[in-house]
Amino acid sequence: MARRTAPRDIASYGDLFDPKEAAEPILGRAVRDSLTEWLTEIWAADDLVKVGLQPRRRAMFDGVPGVGKTTLAHHLAARLGLPMLAVRPDKLISKWVGQSSEQIGALFDAAAAADPPILLFLDEFDAYARHRRRSEQGADDERNMIVDTFLQRVEQHSGFLIAATNFADHVDQAMWRRFDIHITLELPGLAERRRIIQRYLMPYGLPADALESLAIALETASPALIRSFCEGLKRQIILGPLLKLDMSRGAVIDRVVSTVHPHKDVGKPRLWSHGSQDQSVRAMPWPLPAAEEVKAEPPVCRPDVAVVSLNDRRNKP
Ligand SMILES: Nc1ncnc2c1ncn2[C@@H]1O[C@H](COP(=O)(O)OP(=O)(O)OP(=O)(O)O)[C@@H](O)[C@H]1O
Ligand SMILES: [Mg+2]
Repeated sequence: MARRTAPRDIASYGDLFDPKEAAEPILGRAVRDSLTEWLTEIWAADDLVKVGLQPRRRAMFDGVPGVGKTTLAHHLAARLGLPMLAVRPDKLISKWVGQSSEQIGALFDAAAAADPPILLFLDEFDAYARHRRRSEQGADDERNMIVDTFLQRVEQHSGFLIAATNFADHVDQAMWRRFDIHITLELPGLAERRRIIQRYLMPYGLPADALESLAIALETASPALIRSFCEGLKRQIILGPLLKLDMSRGAVIDRVVSTVHPHKDVGKPRLWSHGSQDQSVRAMPWPLPAAEEVKAEPPVCRPDVAVVSLNDRRNKP
């Protein structure tokens, strides 16, 4: 069953992210190096043209849920001074035969014509870009057509394009090759976890030994989980007394751990196994001190972790 597609406004394809609202991700060295390399290449576009090259424009981010793929894409768009359009499959995939390919074409046309230009972010990319199959059923024909349309349009697109997936293995190989940069976001290491805790616990802070202990207990946690844990703790600190809840350290931690759930595809950090009995909880000063009252070393710039600043090189040098 076919149906014609009416032209759509660019914002109807997904969520528009303002570059001014981007957060600075806390990144491991490998990702930070890839990012710096890519941005340098983009900023040096004029010099590259002189030797017959173009900066790369298409990147694929992969990593487990909550590891920061959307955050990094938004941050990158902000570094380039561009709004980001985040498109999810449900905005493109249609129950009408043939209409998904039409929608994909219309999206790329709208993105190419967008003024100001946008960075196109295709989330859950594996949903469209699964391996093509030998055609045995109509559904496979439709899916192959979607992949073919993407292959063509991704290649033709002259703007910046980032795709993200939690399932890199599911992405069609030909599609994978259309992306000239691949960045795998790993779960944060110890040094990054320390920084992420510090950021999201603000305005509270932990002294160095308690911070270290909590960062160890949060091994295998994604940045999203660490953020939810810290925010859950702060919410309890403010709301618990109003609700006349037990505000002892152990009771508060147990309430937070029981309401914040690690994603089922990511390992369960030790804190979730031990709860208030964990040694990191015993090391935690209570009530939590203000950040400025604690000397939460290690120093800001350790070699194995860094914050990529939004302000350092937003524009060309
Ligand atoms: N590197 C990071 N530094 C600081 N905060 C982060 C980082 N990565 C993620 N976060 C925080 O975690 C939350 C989830 O991140 P994000 O949505 O970017 O993850 P994702 O990989 O896109 O997840 P999904 O696969 O579910 O789409 C955000 O609120 C973000 O602020
Ligand atoms: Mg995301």
